[in-house]
Amino acid sequence: MRVIITGSSGLIGTSLGLRLMADGIEVAGIDRLPNPWTDRIPTRLEDLCTTGSLDPAPWGQADVVVHLAARAKVHESVEHPSNALENYTVTHRALDYCRQTGTPVIFGSSREVYGEQASVPVREDAVRLEGAASPYAAAKLADEALIRSFARCFQLPFVIIRFSNVYGRFDDLDRNGRFVPLLCDRVPRRAPLTIFGPHKTFDFTYIDDAVDGVVRAIDRLVHAPGSVSGHAINLGTGTGTTLLEAATLVAKAAGIEPYFELGTIRVGEISQYVADLAKAHDLLGYVPQFPSSRGIPLAYQWWRQWHYGESPAVT
Ligand SMILES: NC(=O)c1ccc[n+]([C@@H]2O[C@H](COP(=O)([O-])OP(=O)(O)OC[C@H]3O[C@@H](n4cnc5c(N)ncnc54)[C@H](O)[C@@H]3O)[C@@H](O)[C@H]2O)c1
Repeated sequence: MRVIITGSSGLIGTSLGLRLMADGIEVAGIDRLPNPWTDRIPTRLEDLCTTGSLDPAPWGQADVVVHLAARAKVHESVEHPSNALENYTVTHRALDYCRQTGTPVIFGSSREVYGEQASVPVREDAVRLEGAASPYAAAKLADEALIRSFARCFQLPFVIIRFSNVYGRFDDLDRNGRFVPLLCDRVPRRAPLTIFGPHKTFDFTYIDDAVDGVVRAIDRLVHAPGSVSGHAINLGTGTGTTLLEAATLVAKAAGIEPYFELGTIRVGEISQYVADLAKAHDLLGYVPQFPSSRGIPLAYQWWRQWHYGESPAVT
């Protein structure tokens, strides 16, 4: 089997590529940036927003495209709304390739398509156009609609995966500046850190759970398309963790007495999300293995190992 991964130099793309290759699957990566973590994933450097393409040369036809390429920082899309147009354009180009070659596609969507929900856990049918809280969210909603239109007009098989706060190995501050890497960097140095909305509650998903869900979706979409094609599926842990709890877990792993500045929630952000995983369980057999109490210490351990060469302390 051959899998094209767009965004293969990113957090999810890197772990997914390495996992598929370990499973004996051929991987063709496409990204506008070189992979900073590994040179093992065959990668073509292309900007899919401009002239880049998924044209299979020199790899040949793929069995499935996993489309992950995007400017993935939600708050940045508020400062630079043109990121949303870029993300939509990239998805359009990826889908056009899939349409022309008849290649099934798995799309990396986001919990942002749900907007602010009054209660959790959130089922897949709770999507609300009215809830779009940021240009990033609006682009994901538009991407999902475009995929469904391609499925209706061109019989394109697809699965939409809705990720939530994925964290773990192969993430860094200068890429996305996400919360868990920020904590891993600042907490042990006792550097100032403001938590915007400490009681915001999210479903933090350890990278190995996210990758496991995507691998299961690839397998079903290629070998039993009727069982999954046309579905949007949440991945997560099914449990909420507040930002303050996540920060405290890092402080505990670092052996540091936590001290944080507490700020208010920022424009474009939502305050709570927990995934309903019934569909992921029923359609993919997905059972998360990493509650935040297990995954966050592992993420901290990877950070210390990668940046400071420290030996693993937890497993
Ligand atoms: N990580 C999360 O918590 C999370 C949550 C919800 C949704 N998602 C979605 O999952 C996907 C993967 O996320 P990630 O965490 O790996 O993000 P990431 O930022 O680590 O990786 C995205 C990759 O896409 C590449 N890219 C961006 N624009 C491109 C372009 N025009 N042409 C080619 N490559 C381009 C980037 O260079 C980057 O390597 C994204 O679509 C993101 O929106 C991620």
